[in-house]
Amino acid sequence: MTELTPRVDMEKIVSLCQRRGFIFASSEIYGGLSSCWDYGPLGVEMKRNIKHAWWRAVVQERDDMVGLDASILMHPQTWEASGHIEGFTDPLVECKNCHLRWRSDDFTDNKCSSCGGELTEPRQFNLMFKTFMGPVEDTASIVYLRPETAQGIFVNFQNVLNTTRKRLPFGIAQIGKAFRNEITTGNFIFRTREFEQMEIEFFVKPQTDKEWFDSWIEERLNWYVNLGITRENLRLRQHGPEELAHYARDCYDINYLFPMGWAELEGIANRGDFDLIQHASSSGKSLAYFDEETKQQIVPYIIEPSAGVDRSFLAFLCDAYDEEPDQEETRVLLHLHPDLAPIKVAVLPLSRREQLVTVAKQIYADLRRCWMVNYDDAQSIGRRYRRQDEIGTPFCVTVDFQSLEDNQATIRHRDTMNQIRVPISELKTTLAAKLSGERFDTQPLWTAKG
Ligand code: GAP
Repeated sequence: MTELTPRVDMEKIVSLCQRRGFIFASSEIYGGLSSCWDYGPLGVEMKRNIKHAWWRAVVQERDDMVGLDASILMHPQTWEASGHIEGFTDPLVECKNCHLRWRSDDFTDNKCSSCGGELTEPRQFNLMFKTFMGPVEDTASIVYLRPETAQGIFVNFQNVLNTTRKRLPFGIAQIGKAFRNEITTGNFIFRTREFEQMEIEFFVKPQTDKEWFDSWIEERLNWYVNLGITRENLRLRQHGPEELAHYARDCYDINYLFPMGWAELEGIANRGDFDLIQHASSSGKSLAYFDEETKQQIVPYIIEPSAGVDRSFLAFLCDAYDEEPDQEETRVLLHLHPDLAPIKVAVLPLSRREQLVTVAKQIYADLRRCWMVNYDDAQSIGRRYRRQDEIGTPFCVTVDFQSLEDNQATIRHRDTMNQIRVPISELKTTLAAKLSGERFDTQPLWTAKG
């Protein structure tokens, strides 16, 4: 197999994100806060689109899934039962001179990277953020910021079962923030201390776990490909026995070829009955399921596809990024799938003449009831197209002097730069069809990349 190289440098992605308002450093006016990022006006739209596409695929379009939004703060016993207090740790060494802490596996020479001082023996360091609930800061009031959203699903298993009358197999999906006091952060939004997860806990009869495990791996890979990620930039990697998490019987990572190399985008684990047994025994509440077929109480197995919103964001951006020669300049464009593009349509009057502006503003007002739409009348039409290409806007609608006579406008397609002329009264239906994949001219649109 020939070795692939990443399609874009991280600097280009970071620069585009800052230049165009996808992502800013957190608290930038104070010098930023390490590994924390804010999603700007375009970033927040794209992030919402990713979450919406995930929710639609795993909840809305399936009979066997429901959603949940559990609180970030949970009863502290949750983390005893889940094994996080005991096992969610990284080995750390501390410099005896400057007291900085480092991951112990980053060192071979026992010398601090900052000051050259001697390092202590490794000690286990828990990655959960601790805080206090209520006004008294004592051990009785310690709570944790959840390091994964999964536990909120496990502790609600019976609630969902009782209120939805779902039968096995079925799953619960959740999107939300998670927090880990990671020792090593970096690579932009790839590894941060505050991030967002999209997690599914899929409950199955124990003897069916392997087939469901395989089918979820396939399902999740296809999700990325259908939203435009090049298949060869995705790889599956099975965890070796020594790296499996304490709860997992088997686990595959979906890895993506990020600018810094292959790295985890999503993990899919077979958690067996570990979590329900742990929470049942810790809470004293039954989390068993009555199997109508065998008339027996069983503890379901759990298949867990767990994706990162921020890592998906980075992967979709990297895979969409392109540069093309454009006369003396370079055309930067994002081939984002229209479902993910932050802005779906831009309305561009050819000039600022009043008659044109009136028509263009009317179109703008009409279209923005359906989608996020930009209106741009500054600088030449060529520059305005480039600005939209760079943020991945699939279509631009241009209003020109001819429009005043024939009541038609031009739609220009980002990727092919092809143009079609459409009656203004049909703009909305035409754009709706094109945004959901209808052919533009003779070119098929939005086919999954091979
Ligand atoms: N409930 C299982 C679980 O949390 P994980 O592999 O630790 O499994 C799942 O995390 C996903 O969450 C990862 O594949 C990644 O996309 C995202 N993730 C984990 N830690 C992260 C971090 N520090 N920064 C950004 N995303 C992270």
